[in-house]
Amino acid sequence: MHMCGIMGYVGPKQAAEVLLGGLKRLEYRGYDSAGIALEDEGSIYLRRKAGALRVLEEVLAESPPPPSHIGIGHTRWATHGGVSDRNAHPHTDCKGENAIVHNGIIENADELRAELLNAGHVLRSETDSELVAHLLETGPADLRVRLSEVARRCEGAYALLVMDVHQPDRLVAVRRTSPIAIGATENEAYVASGAIALAPWLSECIYLDDGEIADIRPGKIEVFRLEDLEPIAKTLHPIEGDGELPDAGEHGTFYRKELMEQPIAWRRVMAGRLDDVGQVNLRDDGIDQEFLRSVERIVFLAMGSSLHACQMAVERLAEVVHLPAQAELASEFRDTRTFLEPGTLAIAVSQSGETIDTLAALRHARDLGAKVLSLVNAPASTIARESDYVLDLRAGFEISVASTKAFTTQVIALELLTAALAQARACPLPPTDLHALRAVPTVAEDFLAAFHLPKELIETCAQAPGVIFLGRGQDLSLAREGSLKLKELSYVWSEAFAAGELKHGPLALVDQRVPVIVCVTDPRHAVKLRSSLAEATARGAYGVAVGSKLGATLQVTLPLKERIGAYLLGALPLQLLAVEVAEARGCPIDQPRNLAKSVTVE
Ligand code: M6R
Repeated sequence: MHMCGIMGYVGPKQAAEVLLGGLKRLEYRGYDSAGIALEDEGSIYLRRKAGALRVLEEVLAESPPPPSHIGIGHTRWATHGGVSDRNAHPHTDCKGENAIVHNGIIENADELRAELLNAGHVLRSETDSELVAHLLETGPADLRVRLSEVARRCEGAYALLVMDVHQPDRLVAVRRTSPIAIGATENEAYVASGAIALAPWLSECIYLDDGEIADIRPGKIEVFRLEDLEPIAKTLHPIEGDGELPDAGEHGTFYRKELMEQPIAWRRVMAGRLDDVGQVNLRDDGIDQEFLRSVERIVFLAMGSSLHACQMAVERLAEVVHLPAQAELASEFRDTRTFLEPGTLAIAVSQSGETIDTLAALRHARDLGAKVLSLVNAPASTIARESDYVLDLRAGFEISVASTKAFTTQVIALELLTAALAQARACPLPPTDLHALRAVPTVAEDFLAAFHLPKELIETCAQAPGVIFLGRGQDLSLAREGSLKLKELSYVWSEAFAAGELKHGPLALVDQRVPVIVCVTDPRHAVKLRSSLAEATARGAYGVAVGSKLGATLQVTLPLKERIGAYLLGALPLQLLAVEVAEARGCPIDQPRNLAKSVTVE
């Protein structure tokens, strides 16, 4: 997963300081241990600690690291082997000459481990990653050539950054699937698993693509094809941000900050794309009328909240453009789908642009002949780089693991795409929908300023054995999003059902301890949803309705009635519910247990 963070430095500065500074900027992605390795007069200095980066910093403050001008660092999200000091990265070989950090999973680890043990290597951790350090013990003297041979033997997904104490002026990095960004100044070079870590020192960087290996020296980065070590010319991309670490400020947590910031992000995603007379124009994004008319079918590929945004778009496309569309869980699509009809457009939706399941599904769709459009919040991300068309979500950095503003900007970007498709095909959206879209940021600001959830609901949810969310049509995707937010933030078990399913099994779960939250932002389903809610409240459930009036214990009325406006506003109380229940239960808000911001391991 991007789950792990990688940082490397070579140059005149004190490497330990740069490594810790970079790792700090990757912290928000989630991790459970941290470590650094430095070259120290011909040997490797290594410090690794389970727990937060702060724990490692305390150890280093007590006993300062040696001065060194080259080093690698890592924040680990455990996959193979528990959370412990010895499983933390970096790892070294038997002789302590090579140090490595790794993101990803080496799938043929068992076979490589057996081979190394047979050859007499002493392995000190339970990780698949350590094997790479030992494999580097033998082979050509040149680190780049040696790593290329080792990398070719490793199956699975990885980003590897290595150093050799005998070549203290260079780092070598190789990528298969997990991201690596590299940049240099005149006399130094930096490497990281995300460009955000490089922002204090650099304004641009290159991104390794799959099957590339980089030789990184002060002031000089050379990239080669892993296959045959042929040189490759790379493009420099700007690094966003001014190097300042974002600050949650008065909101206390990034989740709350990002939740409250949504109206600003919504204005940004619409700017220049939706004009005052309701015309949608995506030409600046490279999406023209001819292309829009050529689309015959759409397959959305996404995971988590991004998938929920796609499910909403499927409803809208069917209704407004009469275009067949399906939203596929990317992790399933890549393995099962063998055929795509001609004229199919694959749309990959991903906040990070690095989610491995979505990336793999995108590649699979391409192999099946589809054109790919991606909606990402990181226009230089791998998913964007591998797409034919890109719509930038412009949500701004989303730091909290649980998505808020990225999800709702995805909903808006997909609504703009729906409107553009409709207008190109002479089946325009009802003008009220576009009016609602333009109005929604301001309405949301007023709504957020005045809205409060009753304490009674928060306490009931905080103690509940489970919470059920219900919806129909577009509201099923909203119910799923509400349920996902609640479970990831508060660890309260929760599930979303199509309301029609209730009597076919889930109703057995309902009693007076189980709140039932009904999403009803599409009033056409109000009558049926009223019955579903009544069935639950008749069994003692605390009933909540978000949208149309259903006679619930708690009625959340939304100030916009148009479908898209109501949907976006309906997301807000659900996002607030999740954080308030989580706070009541004392859960960490920005980094829920076991989760990471961008999932780059399958
Ligand atoms: O970066 P992506 O949008 O591809 O991420 C997809 C999911 O991992 C993500 O939405 C996840 O479900 C969030 N934690 C939801 O809050």
